[in-house]
Amino acid sequence: MNITKNPIAIFENGDIHNPAIVFVHGFPYDHKMWDKVIEGLSGDFYCISYDIRGLGVSEPGDGQYTIEMFADDLMFVLDKLNLQKPILCGLSMGGYIGLRAVEREEEKFSGLILCDTKANSDPDDVKLRRAMNVKRINEEGVQKFAADFVPTCFAPESIEALGDEYIKILGRSMNSNSTGVKGCLLAMAGRTDTTAYLPKIKIPTMVLCGEKDKLSTPDAMKEMTDKINMAEFVIVPDSGHMTPIENPEFVTEKVRKFIRKQIGSSK
Ligand code: MLT
Repeated sequence: MNITKNPIAIFENGDIHNPAIVFVHGFPYDHKMWDKVIEGLSGDFYCISYDIRGLGVSEPGDGQYTIEMFADDLMFVLDKLNLQKPILCGLSMGGYIGLRAVEREEEKFSGLILCDTKANSDPDDVKLRRAMNVKRINEEGVQKFAADFVPTCFAPESIEALGDEYIKILGRSMNSNSTGVKGCLLAMAGRTDTTAYLPKIKIPTMVLCGEKDKLSTPDAMKEMTDKINMAEFVIVPDSGHMTPIENPEFVTEKVRKFIRKQIGSSK
């Protein structure tokens, strides 16, 4: 159920009395990336997802975003729903936001799940690629950018297997607001590096990585996990960068087990 209007559209599923999980999606997608995982978990958990500013049905505004502002928006979601220590689950750009939010206010969360993401900030070549993509969107529109970028997020076998579902995801991404997409590119290019905070994380953490993820590779994610005390590292089989869409059953069960083990939930 959608419970707020713009600027940040929030969606809730499940019983408010159950342990809460907040899901933060990746770029250039929307909250629907978590739909199948939430479907599997909402009988036992209070599942909250939302559209990041500028994406999905959230307001693009002026496109002047920072990851800091996105972390503020995540805190707004916690406040709005009066969530007490939810588990935070972020994928890729959602992970950048999650890591910065935890670095700022770790006490607000009871656990962290990082999917297909990184702690380091953009090296210069990636910053330049983002700049080129902003230019390209200005010249050719967001549709062409999304048509080229989205396939790189999926394992080729998944595109084939998902069929119409993939076409819908691609279509939603191609229809994104160009101000919102450019704003996200610039926010990611300007983000801080949270690597130094990794050894300081105290809340239970699980790191998930698609075995065929080319954007945040298993080797890089394992290296990141090794910096976090006691963090669990999980390879998601048959998946590229979009683990909750490419292998939702596996992700759902890993999330459930993690919460059961680490947070002591009986669900
Ligand atoms: C994402 O999936 O959120 C993006 O690929 C992240 C990025 O471009 O760094």
